[in-house]
Amino acid sequence: MKAIVQDGYGSPDVLELREIDIPTPGDDQLLVRVHAAGVDPGVWHLMAGEPYMIRLGMGFRGPKEPVKGMDVAGTVEAVGKDVTGFKPGDEVYGADLGAYAEYACVSAGRCAPKPANLSFEQAAAVPVSGCTALQGLRDKGRLRPGQKVLVIGAGGGVGTFAVQLAAAIGADVTGVCSAAKADLVRSIGASEVIDYAREDFVHGERRYDVILDTAGNRPLTAMRRALTPAGRLVIVGGEGGGRWTGGFLERMARASALSLFAGRKLMGLSAKVNQKDLLILQNLIEAGKVTPIIDRTYPLGEAAAAIRYMHEGRARGKVVITVYGAPRPARSRSLPSRRRSLSERAAGHLPRATASWGVAGWDGAGWAAAG
Ligand SMILES: NC(=O)c1ccc[n+]([C@@H]2O[C@H](COP(=O)([O-])OP(=O)(O)OC[C@H]3O[C@@H](n4cnc5c(N)ncnc54)[C@H](OP(=O)(O)O)[C@@H]3O)[C@@H](O)[C@H]2O)c1
Repeated sequence: MKAIVQDGYGSPDVLELREIDIPTPGDDQLLVRVHAAGVDPGVWHLMAGEPYMIRLGMGFRGPKEPVKGMDVAGTVEAVGKDVTGFKPGDEVYGADLGAYAEYACVSAGRCAPKPANLSFEQAAAVPVSGCTALQGLRDKGRLRPGQKVLVIGAGGGVGTFAVQLAAAIGADVTGVCSAAKADLVRSIGASEVIDYAREDFVHGERRYDVILDTAGNRPLTAMRRALTPAGRLVIVGGEGGGRWTGGFLERMARASALSLFAGRKLMGLSAKVNQKDLLILQNLIEAGKVTPIIDRTYPLGEAAAAIRYMHEGRARGKVVITVYGAPRPARSRSLPSRRRSLSERAAGHLPRATASWGVAGWDGAGWAAAG
């Protein structure tokens, strides 16, 4: 199969389109024929090996997992022996390492049925950014209907989901973005939009119950002042910190210290893609409450250009890679014997699965519906 591979860390120049073996799914994984894959800053960090602390887990000299990509949407080709709920032919979306390839192994717990009303390209834009926005607003921000929320970086990957999710539960959303993205941010649910080049929003009179910061370039003390007395600042990210820690650890330590002596809480988010939240997003998307915003798509062979464009920070919403795989291989010829037997065993998994999809849903009443 074709895949985007790297041997060492560095700029997008280290990426190569190569022919490699189709991977074999583990017992709890799906082998997915990839139709589309998302691009987000996490992919850039894993490619660059920066901040350096990520090399502790990913490999010191070069990445242990050479195939790039996380967000994926595609068709299940085979399932591991412990997987329930999926069968070959199912259309799914999720996230795991190695998405920039014609086939990828995805843990079943990080996967869910693709929203029926989305194309594969749209679905591939959702997992990392959508789960991050959901977990930031719901779990850390504890955002409630009627509250005021400020989304910084509202026109970006996480921000465009955050604005829509907050509007969907009935919060009053103010988005902070460049002038070029103001119309977009207003159109997806922000009642007010602040152009950060013209207005220093943290020094104004307005106070917010929740601030979701994806840009990471405002002083914590200033953002703290913009919170209501019981307000919550959720630090999602921001680029341009130090090469060793990305500035994240320092910012977390300062946030904890600033939270000690007052009602206002400042905290970091470490989002995780999981099936429960993908199901919630699926329901919201199918209900028309959330729609992925896609700026551009690139073919698999131009993954380096896609990552470069995303890293410039000008994308309106998300960047997606479309994977044009070879025609579906005849299973008996193309799949090794272990995968063939996994594929055959998968037939018994569907009925158990279908019943469970209804459990984690969205009833329109608020985050509580998420359990
Ligand atoms: N904590 C976690 O679990 C987690 C998960 C996912 C992502 N992240 C991190 O979150 C950050 C955002 O991710 P993303 O996918 O949304 O990236 P993105 O698509 O590049 O969006 C970032 C946005 O920030 C905006 N921005 C840049 N400078 C700004 C400023 N001074 N004030 C306000 N906005 C500004 C950019 O647009 P404009 O300037 O043109 O408006 C851009 O839309 C990244 O650092 C990423 O690594 C963290």
